[in-house]
Amino acid sequence: MLADENTTPGTLPPGFSYIADEPTFDASRHLALEAPKDTMTLEDFGYGPSESAQFTSPVAAASPTRLLSDEGITAAQTVLELLQPRTSRHGDTTDFAGRKSIYFGEYQSRFLRDLARCPEMIGFLSDIFQTPVASHTMGHLGCQINLGNETPGGPIADWHHDIVGFTVVLSLHDPSQMQGGHFVYFKGPRDEGQRLLDSGRPLPEDRLVAADQVPMGHATIMQGSAILHAAQPMQNAGYRCNIVNSYVSRDVRAPDPNRGFLVRDFYPGMPTNPIYSEMARHAAWLGKAKLGTVLESMAWTEDRTRIIAELSAAIEDVTHCIRQLEVGDVSLEQYRKERERADERQMATPVFDPGQE
Ligand SMILES: [Fe+2]
Repeated sequence: MLADENTTPGTLPPGFSYIADEPTFDASRHLALEAPKDTMTLEDFGYGPSESAQFTSPVAAASPTRLLSDEGITAAQTVLELLQPRTSRHGDTTDFAGRKSIYFGEYQSRFLRDLARCPEMIGFLSDIFQTPVASHTMGHLGCQINLGNETPGGPIADWHHDIVGFTVVLSLHDPSQMQGGHFVYFKGPRDEGQRLLDSGRPLPEDRLVAADQVPMGHATIMQGSAILHAAQPMQNAGYRCNIVNSYVSRDVRAPDPNRGFLVRDFYPGMPTNPIYSEMARHAAWLGKAKLGTVLESMAWTEDRTRIIAELSAAIEDVTHCIRQLEVGDVSLEQYRKERERADERQMATPVFDPGQE
């Protein structure tokens, strides 16, 4: 069965608040959804059929896609202006020195929350990804705003794949005013790209695709967990701003690509840590859908081994979440190791499909 469409908690985490006097989101005025001209599949990216089956959607990425009307761009800019005082700056001694972001967008702006979660957007993205999606179950991954670095030249985001299934990078800057700072992805399987990087070799130029002229109000839409990508350093002091929204798959058969970010003290000035509760909600959301599938499909059988395997697979996300919460916050280095293991598990875990002989 599909996981619930509604992933919204009923209340804000303590200490979070919405900005005052922001525009009210209105899909009929603020959206101008235009289907992308091109989409590329995981197979276009070099994934084989069995590797592709470990991901929910066959789609890797779409060409720059218009999301906002001119009125929507103006309203989003007003919201971003109001959010500026809430910008987080990472300290000089961290791995993220110089980075400027606004985190927890859905807990800070009703406009951003409603833009990310409106049915029109959910339906539009589900069509693009050819599978039903929902807004993210974990607010710390659902919406963040990435701004240009404090000083030009620093890396905005090194090569990585996302810790969420689906990513929408909505551009709110004028690309003609920027030197560098562009989004670029590697046209190949994430593991192949990572192996090249780990061996100290550069990624081959002819397999890099730069999304360097994404017009304002347009987005780069990708299955971020499957695609290795980066944001190049800015070479000038031009304004750079992306609203990054994430989505989950409601079809929970493929192994979960979403990873809670349990890195100690990552979020500067966070009033309460909502991440533990968000991870528990996400695991419960997955477990509910998987147990529901077991309930629907359970055969009359004396094969206890099979029944145990189906039940165990249905609650695996929950037991894994419990193990993570028992450990709690970890260093960035520990997190990266754990994440590598989780990615390996993702590619090795059988697709959840109980009731099949
Ligand atoms: Fe990313």
